Amino acid sequence: MIHIELQKGVFVVVGSAYSPGPMLVGKKAVVTGGSQGIGAAIVRAFASHGAAVLVVDVAPLSDVEFDSAAGGSINHLDYDVRAQEVPVALTEFAPDVLVNNVGHFLNPPTSFTGTDPGFWSEAGNINFDHVVRLTHALLPGMIDRGTGGSIVNLTTVEAHRAIPGHTMYSAYKAALTQFTRSLGVEIGRTGVRVNAIAPDLIESVQVPYRTIVSADDWDKWPGWAPLGGPGQPVDIAGPALFLASDLARYITGTVIHVDGGSHAAGGWFPTEEGGWTNRPRKA
Ligand SMILES: NC(=O)c1ccc[n+]([C@@H]2O[C@H](COP(=O)([O-])OP(=O)(O)OC[C@H]3O[C@@H](n4cnc5c(N)ncnc54)[C@H](O)[C@@H]3O)[C@@H](O)[C@H]2O)c1
Repeated sequence: MIHIELQKGVFVVVGSAYSPGPMLVGKKAVVTGGSQGIGAAIVRAFASHGAAVLVVDVAPLSDVEFDSAAGGSINHLDYDVRAQEVPVALTEFAPDVLVNNVGHFLNPPTSFTGTDPGFWSEAGNINFDHVVRLTHALLPGMIDRGTGGSIVNLTTVEAHRAIPGHTMYSAYKAALTQFTRSLGVEIGRTGVRVNAIAPDLIESVQVPYRTIVSADDWDKWPGWAPLGGPGQPVDIAGPALFLASDLARYITGTVIHVDGGSHAAGGWFPTEEGGWTNRPRKA
């Protein structure tokens, strides 16, 4: 097992990271938006690995089935992350891990010129402001307890490429990515790590691919994601568990792309002839 020690004013990791068994025993985790979708899969993974998880969500828990052998638990706090006040119950919970998962593109594709200040601030609040607020409220405790910790922010592939019609979503998610990088570096010596996951193409409540992709188009998935698709919330839960655990003890300020390869493809598509193209197939 590994643990973190303060040696000559610097936090150092002692021991081997490759311990067998559950990875979050004795840890407390807050997961925002953990009632459904990606957040719910993260919650089940963390609890199955022994964490006491507090789900922060406006919706009730949808599926709390998890492997309880490692002593984990799941509780729910009904809280809208857009509220300006962070509840005392959250700071008192004193988490080791904070997953800032709530985020939304809010509207159908809309031209930027058709948006107004009210919408800009809504987009900022649901994708960025609450992450700053919650992190600012919970981070001092994580640092003061001196046992390290992990913050995992859910950004998007569109923080790294364009998404026409969702300019503000993309801009605020990119801000979240930079927040992750700079904060990770700034507090590195405290032993608290800050990383992000950039998903794409994950079936969830927000992106119900089985509804929005017609049956006729379903076999076109390999053109979207080199690994085929779509991905499932559990595909994000594994990387989140990794980042939260001591296996990622030397990782901070970075982004893991979990998207079936869509970010790497970067506009390259397989052709029907078995080759590749980065050119529009129709004018
Ligand atoms: N699904 C994808 O393919 C995909 C792609 C890119 C980025 N993401 C990001 O991943 C994260 C999770 O996405 P998802 O697809 O699982 O979303 P989802 O909409 O399916 O689930 C979001 C959860 O957050 C809760 N929630 C929403 N607003 C809230 C609020 N104001 N306060 C508290 N809880 C609130 C909802 O009740 C729900 O349980 C988001 O940040 C999203 O931007 C997802």
